[in-house]
Amino acid sequence: MNRILKAGLVAVLAMQGQLSVSSTAHAAGLGDMDAGLEYARQRCAECHDIASRHPMNSASGAPTFYVIANTPGTTGTSLSSWLLSSHPKMPGLMLEPRDVDNVIAFILSLRDE
Ligand code: HEC
Repeated sequence: MNRILKAGLVAVLAMQGQLSVSSTAHAAGLGDMDAGLEYARQRCAECHDIASRHPMNSASGAPTFYVIANTPGTTGTSLSSWLLSSHPKMPGLMLEPRDVDNVIAFILSLRDE
C-alpha cells in the first residue's frame, strides 16, 4: 500500500473512530473477530505471528497472538490498556477504539478452552 492510500485509510479510520466513540464504549469487548483478523494481518503480522501456535516470532521477538491469548492474566481489559498506550517496541501503532475491540476479539478467540 502506498503512503497516500495509507494516509487516507488512517483518516477514514479516525473519522469512524470519532463517530463511533459512544457506541464503542458500550460495546467494549464485543468486537468483530473477522474484522480483527483482517486488521491484524495488515497491521500486526509484520512482527507478530498471528496464526501459528509457536511461542514467538524469532525475527521480531514479539510473542505470537496465540501465546498472548493463553497467557494467564490476559483479558480484554489488559489488552485494551496495552493497545491504547504506546510502546517503544511497537512504534507508531495508533489504534482506533473500534479496531482495538475487533483485534481483541480476534486475539481472545485464539484462547484454548
Ligand atoms: C514493529 C513490530 C510490532 C508490530 C507492528 C506490532 N507489535 Fe505487538 N509487540 C511487539 C513486540 C516486540 C512485543 C514484545 C514487547 C515487549 O515485551 O516489550 C509486542 C507485544 C505486544 C503485546 C503484549 C504481549 C504481552 O506480553 O502481554 C500485545 C497485546 C501486542 N503486542 C499486540 C499487538 C497488536 C494487536 C498489533 C497490531 C495492531 C501489534 N502488536 C503490532 C512488536 C510489534
